[in-house]
Amino acid sequence: MCGIVGYVGEQDAADVLVDALSKLEYRGYDSAGIAVFEDGEIKVEKCQGRLDNLRKKMEEVGKPEGCVGIGHTRWATHGEPSDINSHPHGNKRVTIVHNGIIENYKEVKEFLVGKGYEFVSETDTETVAKLLDYYYDGNPVDTIIKVVSEITGSYALGIMFADYPEHVYAVRKDSPMLIGVGKGENFLGSDVTAFLKYTKDYYLIEQDEICDITANAIKIVDIHKNPIKKELQTATWDVNAAEKGGYAHFMLKEIHEQSNAVKMTISPRVKDGMPDFSETGMTKEELASFRQIYIVACGTAMHAGMVGKYVIEKLARTSVIVDIASEFRYRDPLIGEGDLLIVISQSGETADTKAALALGKERGAKTLAIVNVVGSSIAREADMVLYTNAGPEISVASTKAYSVQIAAMYLFAFELAYVKKAISEDECRKYVKELLEIPDYITHTLDVKKDCQQVASKLLNADSLLYIGRGLDYALSMEGSLKLKEISYIHSESYAAGELKHGTISLITEHMPVIAVATQKALIEKTVSNIKEVKARGAKVYLVCGESLQLEEGIADAIIRIPEVDEILMPTLCAIPLQLIAYYTSVLRGNDVDKPRNLAKSVTVE
Ligand code: AGP
Repeated sequence: MCGIVGYVGEQDAADVLVDALSKLEYRGYDSAGIAVFEDGEIKVEKCQGRLDNLRKKMEEVGKPEGCVGIGHTRWATHGEPSDINSHPHGNKRVTIVHNGIIENYKEVKEFLVGKGYEFVSETDTETVAKLLDYYYDGNPVDTIIKVVSEITGSYALGIMFADYPEHVYAVRKDSPMLIGVGKGENFLGSDVTAFLKYTKDYYLIEQDEICDITANAIKIVDIHKNPIKKELQTATWDVNAAEKGGYAHFMLKEIHEQSNAVKMTISPRVKDGMPDFSETGMTKEELASFRQIYIVACGTAMHAGMVGKYVIEKLARTSVIVDIASEFRYRDPLIGEGDLLIVISQSGETADTKAALALGKERGAKTLAIVNVVGSSIAREADMVLYTNAGPEISVASTKAYSVQIAAMYLFAFELAYVKKAISEDECRKYVKELLEIPDYITHTLDVKKDCQQVASKLLNADSLLYIGRGLDYALSMEGSLKLKEISYIHSESYAAGELKHGTISLITEHMPVIAVATQKALIEKTVSNIKEVKARGAKVYLVCGESLQLEEGIADAIIRIPEVDEILMPTLCAIPLQLIAYYTSVLRGNDVDKPRNLAKSVTVE
């Protein structure tokens, strides 16, 4: 989704802004632009395409020279990607960058057209720029307050008023924005990675707070102009964590970081060999009392919830409903008092997950957020939060975030099973011990790289494929299939292996490769039968299974064997070959692995 940056200081603003925007590229975008005060005038450069296009353009025409400015990467919502629709928008008096969606932009536009304004772009953003211009009375803060009281929807806005060439203004609602606090310089950023290179200190801007930022001062007021005092936050993420560090792609780096990420997520939540969730403030009695558990999320995070469901139901004998956030929010779910809603999100800013959380709260459920980004909206809005300490995930295709989410789900399931007396203390200790060993096993599992590369070379020209598995293997296949789709652009579906006969097997021909996952002992024979059925119909089968599994000769066209742990924990290892198959297929097809087409890292609009 769109990224916003801002700079006020003594450095060359254009350089800082473009550099900061490059750190937000991972969010997904289709055009970029900056506005800088040059000799007291607002100078804008913007164009469609990657940041390189903007850099080239500025090499040709000259970059705006100055030390104060705002910048933007746009992910088109209103109007196609084009130079005209790119941000910043505005005029010589007031210029803005915007993230979010202005819901009443048509009414605002109509009003402004009536006042004689002309519009050049198709964006909702231009209406806000013109409305600011319309109400501007010489006082930026008053003007911003007037405008935000008239617009609806979500917004993070970076604003420059020509009369105030040493200031950048900002305001947000339902779209994240932070102020990076430096020495003699300050920054704006949609997330900390934008300014991490310059400072780790930042303020979180809350709903409808209006910020006036200069090089040496940051003034923040609420909508009634009451001054707000903020607590300075310090990012724990290392600046190198947001760099590729010698890997060809962020995705490959993040796949390799999974061992450490899981360790960082699990270790702090284990005390004396038992799960410890005291940081959430939830007592054991309260945990044991929930009637129904809902896990709601989107995409990969929802798939982590599917693993959570299988494990919680198996160990804790408690019913779990997993739902896609965009469905949950509109289906009038039965959630209410006495229920626990777990929302899972890497970014903590996903619009549908946020809405699902709000709905759960409104209906009286207790809410727990499993989130990676510290201080994100979902983390702040939930009753309880459990941070997955994965560090920044830059690649759009989620890998390490998935692994830490399922690791957190396991630990939660162990604790719940124990407090509900579904497992004994000894059993709980045994599971926790095995989970603590998973990081080492993840490292060993990475040895399957070569095998995955070979499988990828066979999938290269496929138009479509199927992932099959049963039980936890099925839950995991969902994620394998999504990974492949999003970065290789090959269609795939995950299917519960036993369901094939009820229709989907008609798709099987020699042109439909099948990736089978078989790690669950009680189900292996069944899955093997399904493999035989698809093989008999010509499909090439690539099987992921444990290293000791005895199989008939020729059962599959390639077998990727991974280390074996307790079968309930196998998804933590099995995820790796599936991620690597998707990664290498994407590389071999020459795709932009980290920034797949049409996708954004953090989906902050509906
Ligand atoms: C997965 O690779 C995707 N990037 C996507 O499905 C993602 O998991 C989903 O959009 C949810 O994002 P969140 O975890 O930040 O809420």
